[in-house]
Amino acid sequence: MADDEVIGVSAAGVAIALFRLGDSFHALHDLCSHGRARLSDGFVEDGCIECPLHQGKIDIRDGSPRSAPITLPVKSFPVRVVGARIEVLLEPELLLT
Ligand code: FES
Repeated sequence: MADDEVIGVSAAGVAIALFRLGDSFHALHDLCSHGRARLSDGFVEDGCIECPLHQGKIDIRDGSPRSAPITLPVKSFPVRVVGARIEVLLEPELLLT
C-alpha cells in the first residue's frame, strides 16, 4: 500500500476505508457522514480524505470533519500492524447493524 493511498476493504461485513499516511495506517467507516458516498472513492490530501460526492473533508487520523458540508465525524477504528498483516479493531455494535 502506497503512502497517501486509500483502499476500500470489508471486515466482518463492515465497510472500511483503510489509509496509509507515511509509516502509519488508519481506518474509518467507509461511509461519509454527510451522504451515501464511499470515502474510499475519494482523494487523500494533507492528512484528509476529500469525499467524492460534495468534496467535504475528513481528518484521516480521527474521522473529525474538516470542511463543509460535513459537520459530523466518521467512525474511526484502531489499527495495528502485525507482521505483514493490518488489523482493524471493530466494535461489536457495528457488527450487528
Ligand atoms: S456525501 Fe460526502 S460531502 Fe456530501
